[in-house]
Amino acid sequence: MAIPKHIAIIMDGNGRWAKAQGKKRTEGHKEGVKNVRSIAIYANSLGVKCLTLYAFSTENWKRPIEEVDYLMSLPKVFFHAYLKELMEKNIKVTMIGDINRIPDEARKIFLDAIAKTSKNTGMILNFALNYGSRDEIVKACMAFAKDYKAGLVDTLTEESFNDYLMTAGLPDIDLLIRTSGEERISNFLLYQLAYSELIFRPEAWPDFNKQSLDACLEEFEHRSRRFGGL
Ligand code: FPP
Repeated sequence: MAIPKHIAIIMDGNGRWAKAQGKKRTEGHKEGVKNVRSIAIYANSLGVKCLTLYAFSTENWKRPIEEVDYLMSLPKVFFHAYLKELMEKNIKVTMIGDINRIPDEARKIFLDAIAKTSKNTGMILNFALNYGSRDEIVKACMAFAKDYKAGLVDTLTEESFNDYLMTAGLPDIDLLIRTSGEERISNFLLYQLAYSELIFRPEAWPDFNKQSLDACLEEFEHRSRRFGGL
């Protein structure tokens, strides 16, 4: 099977999953964290080079404070439970997004996981946290303008623009998956998704399992990717 090098996932539907079972929305996020572990381990075992997960968007701050606080406690829950296993599996943790506005504890935990796994050579597990694509593109333009003004660069190409994005150095995204039936991009990786295959799955994120990923990979394999050519 052709394994995509870089898969990105919008992990949607935690809240609805919980509500459907008469539970609090946060229970859905808790279950979602467990699923991050199992899908990351599985993707690594399949030979995926990079898995980017949308964990918190720049728009998610608009949620009730209790839910925002809960979401910001998830890095601690996740890395306390699974950092050891990520090390054993040689998985490297990275992140994209504006790390400066993340509460201290979550930021420290992320930076610690990034540092501890930095020499690992297996799959890159890349979390999008406090990430918004328009924010990223604007920041990239500002960084380019600064370099241009300083005389460090005299032109900009599609290639060199990539280097100003938070995803600099990561392979192009081959496949984007969004769970829970919504068919939107929601300000995720707008520039990077130009030629990606998009797959929308009906399951909520906590129900998206290995079989669901297998089904996505099968579908991916059947789609013909011509990048605008014939
Ligand atoms: C969308 O579901 C999901 C989120 C906003 C959070 C996703 C985060 C995780 C699964 C865990 C992240 C893990 C780490 C380590 C940071 P929703 O709440 O929008 O669901 P709904 O559409 O049903 O309301």
